[in-house]
Amino acid sequence: MSLPEPPTHLRLFYALDLPADVRARAYDHIKHLRERAPQVKATWEREDKLHLTLKFIGETNAEWLPHLIEAAVRAAAHVSSFELLLEGTSVFPSTRNPRILWLGMKDPQVRLARLYKRLEAECATLGFVRNPHPFHPHVTLGRIRHPHAPARHLAHYHCQHGFAPVPFNVNELILMRSDLTPKGAQYTPLARLAFLTSDET
Ligand code: 2AM
Repeated sequence: MSLPEPPTHLRLFYALDLPADVRARAYDHIKHLRERAPQVKATWEREDKLHLTLKFIGETNAEWLPHLIEAAVRAAAHVSSFELLLEGTSVFPSTRNPRILWLGMKDPQVRLARLYKRLEAECATLGFVRNPHPFHPHVTLGRIRHPHAPARHLAHYHCQHGFAPVPFNVNELILMRSDLTPKGAQYTPLARLAFLTSDET
């Protein structure tokens, strides 16, 4: 029996994971929104898939994989674990035209912003385009399929209802593979780059 051919292209992005208790808190918020507006047509994120995207690479020839892992190794080198706060509720692009409902991220030590800059620089060295937009670290909760009046009301409610901040530690950078399937995107970590712990610094 022959083995399946390895894929020629991979859909990739760099991400940070959220601890299970933080994901559970974010998912409580999703459940609350869904219960409040069941008529709103949205694709809500699954609890186990909640994450923070640092950089979306997109569909890429699989030959780039080792280089993209190396870029992550260099970006994560000498970075110590750091604290973030999942905090704040907002919408892309606007509450008048809500498409993505999200939770924000507070970066009190500016470590996330620094890691992001290093990763962008490493990827640019490989020839990948820099994100032309300012970095808005966020955790996507749901994608609105039809931004009609009930969705706009829900977006307003989400923004005003707020979300009690949850602090957590980030311990690694992940290079994630995303496979688009009829059941939605499936995420598979391809590389995990651990940050330094307090004993190592
Ligand atoms: P989002 O959470 O804001 O939707 C995997 O698709 C991850 O990459 C998602 O978290 C998604 O961000 C992010 N991403 C960024 N740019 C993207 C793009 N052009 N297409 C798909 N996903 C993108």
